[in-house]
Amino acid sequence: MTALTSITRTYTFCAAHRLHTDQLPDDVNQHIFGKCNNPNGHGHNYTVQVTIQGALNVTTGLVTDVETLDQIVHEHVVARFDHQHLNFDQAFQGLTTTGENLARLIWELLVDRIPSGQLENIRVVETRDNFFDYVGDPKP
Ligand code: NI
Repeated sequence: MTALTSITRTYTFCAAHRLHTDQLPDDVNQHIFGKCNNPNGHGHNYTVQVTIQGALNVTTGLVTDVETLDQIVHEHVVARFDHQHLNFDQAFQGLTTTGENLARLIWELLVDRIPSGQLENIRVVETRDNFFDYVGDPKP
């Protein structure tokens, strides 16, 4: 059995969203999502924690190439969502902009791009009281 170590890096971006699904009537949306369904939306300072697990490189003492990981997350996640309205993002057409769906989307955006090691967990921290974890299928 191979020992595994993990590293978690933290990234931040600010974005707006509105929780709403066209698949339900307005009053049901209002009931389910409450204030988060207000038509003009609202913003969050999102924190994303990306955890990479892998075998420890005995020479470098590292699990993954952090500098490359930072570049990838900035390019594919932070640059895409920072100061945007999530409801207008192509990936959220027909999908509610919940923290759960955002965590899953970020997993899908990163899973094939990890420089070394495997993506182990995506955590999206939305507010002081809310965070979401997603663990998808590993890289084939
Ligand atoms: Ni919100």
